[in-house]
Amino acid sequence: MARSIFPFLLLFLVAFSSSCVHSHEVGYMAAEVSNKGLQFLKDLLIEKAESSLVPLELPKIEKYVKIPFVGRVQMVLSNITIERVHVTLSTLKTGDSGIVIDVSGATANLSMNWEYSYSTWLLPITVSDKGSATVEVEGLEVGLTLSLTTLQGSLKLSLLECGCYVNDIYIKLDGGASWLYQGLVDAFESKISSAVEDAVSKKIKESIVGLDSMLQSLPKEVPVTNIAALNVTFVDDPELTESSLDLEVNGLFSSKDAVVLSSHYHRSIRDSLSCKEADKMVKISLHEDVLKSASYVYFNASKMQWIVDKLPDQSLLNTAGWRFIIPKLYKMYPNHDMNLNVSVSSPPTIEVENQQITATILLDVVIDVLDVEEVIPVLSFSMGIGTSTSAEISRNALTGSVKLNDFTLSLNWSKVGDLHMRLIQTLASTVLKTVILPYINLKLSEGFQLPVFHGYKLQDARILCTDSWIVICSDVTSI
Ligand SMILES: *[C@@H]1O[C@H](CO)[C@@H](O)[C@H](O)[C@H]1NC(C)=O
Ligand SMILES: *[C@@H]1O[C@H](CO)[C@@H](O)[C@H](O)[C@H]1NC(C)=O
Ligand SMILES: *[C@@H]1O[C@H](CO)[C@@H](O)[C@H](O)[C@H]1NC(C)=O
Ligand SMILES: *[C@@H]1O[C@H](CO)[C@@H](O)[C@H](O)[C@H]1NC(C)=O
Ligand SMILES: *[C@@H]1O[C@H](CO)[C@@H](O)[C@H](O)[C@H]1NC(C)=O
Ligand SMILES: *[C@@H]1O[C@H](CO)[C@@H](O)[C@H](O)[C@H]1NC(C)=O
Repeated sequence: MARSIFPFLLLFLVAFSSSCVHSHEVGYMAAEVSNKGLQFLKDLLIEKAESSLVPLELPKIEKYVKIPFVGRVQMVLSNITIERVHVTLSTLKTGDSGIVIDVSGATANLSMNWEYSYSTWLLPITVSDKGSATVEVEGLEVGLTLSLTTLQGSLKLSLLECGCYVNDIYIKLDGGASWLYQGLVDAFESKISSAVEDAVSKKIKESIVGLDSMLQSLPKEVPVTNIAALNVTFVDDPELTESSLDLEVNGLFSSKDAVVLSSHYHRSIRDSLSCKEADKMVKISLHEDVLKSASYVYFNASKMQWIVDKLPDQSLLNTAGWRFIIPKLYKMYPNHDMNLNVSVSSPPTIEVENQQITATILLDVVIDVLDVEEVIPVLSFSMGIGTSTSAEISRNALTGSVKLNDFTLSLNWSKVGDLHMRLIQTLASTVLKTVILPYINLKLSEGFQLPVFHGYKLQDARILCTDSWIVICSDVTSI
């Protein structure tokens, strides 16, 4: 009875969970693993399994065997150990039913000890002997069906089905009589086969449980700097189709005082950009809100403030450099060094557009004169800078270049009298274009190395920007 109700219960649960529990929360960071990426992952998993399955000890097998001309013999196989498993053929498929891994060609090498004893009416004593043997298993088949879901923000991996089947087994004795060999083969072949099948299935089940608890213990927040953390909470269940696995994480930066950004976007826009033509393993998508959240965190932590006391053209930081433009400044503080106290006055607006990222930054700039013992603020400007940045990935480094789109400058207050604002505007804009931006662009062109994760890095990565999304298409390789 219980057995027949079970499928309906399962069906009910699935229907219920998909209609009600589905949160439809959005993720601002997503990864789409293509078929090529899934094959890479599978090969990695199999490689790991080959080494973690062994040595695998099987239970001792004991049996009385009737041997012609010898009689009833007690045989014991002990210390049966799978020493090596080698997979030659495997496939991975994804779909509605989950992730299906099929290993259709694997071999295994086993070692074991044998011993026998018997007594016959011919001799008054017990005859016994022992030795060792090796066993080769060929055509080991393993099939697994896994499901990947999200449970309280973590990935949950469960084993839906697991089967293991041994096709052929060869036993090779070191020493022993020939009757013994035949006896062993006849009586123990199927026992060893089923012991191998049971042990491998059990070990796989244990490994999946281990992998699952590893996944669930992954942190939901990754500290990025000492003030910002990246929220890597999984939202929604992973989506499995025949050609890809889609994962989505919240992906926003937050500080201890959580940032709440509540914009909504259309997933279709993200989905429309495909890496498939490029035949890459993974597509990583970042929504522009990820950048916004990072800038909010830094702004809110008052980290967007700098004292500028070095410029590529140092004469700009001495009153002498301004002697003809702001004569009063030079007159009051002749040949004094200056610095700029720059602070961002509101969180920058950041937008990802076609092939570029635009940002508008409002700055408060206070010019300080450095006197012998004190720092004297003499001028304050409000500045608005509009830029567009294009990014590129080459040789595993992220590079970019910034262009100035617009620039505004207005005087906030002055302690050095009236200024020719138009002249100063033109000058500041020229300095920005000819000194500051080339310097920034030089730094950007040197690039930032892409991060490395646990011995793996991106390879031949490409970056695209379009309607609110930054998309990186890449292969993955070990270093
Ligand atoms: C059992 O097998 C292992 C691995 O083959 C071997 O190292 C060990 O010596 C064996 N133990 C006995 C009691 O034969
Ligand atoms: C395992 O068995 C294969 C044959 O199936 C043999 O070629 C190989 O040398 C064996 N490996 C070990 C480590 O015994
Ligand atoms: C992280 O993201 C999850 C899912 O979107 C959300 O429920 C949670 O509140 C976020 N945590 C923080 C600290 O923002
Ligand atoms: C900034 O921090 C304050 C607390 O210091 C917090 O109340 C506020 O929500 C934060 N604002 C943003 C946009 O993160
Ligand atoms: C820079 O200016 C801000 C106000 O705009 C002020 O709070 C801060 O103390 C100044 N820093 C220095 C080092 O002068
Ligand atoms: C003018 O300067 C004062 C003091 O530095 C600052 O608090 C204020 O925000 C500035 N006003 C504008 C419009 O930038």
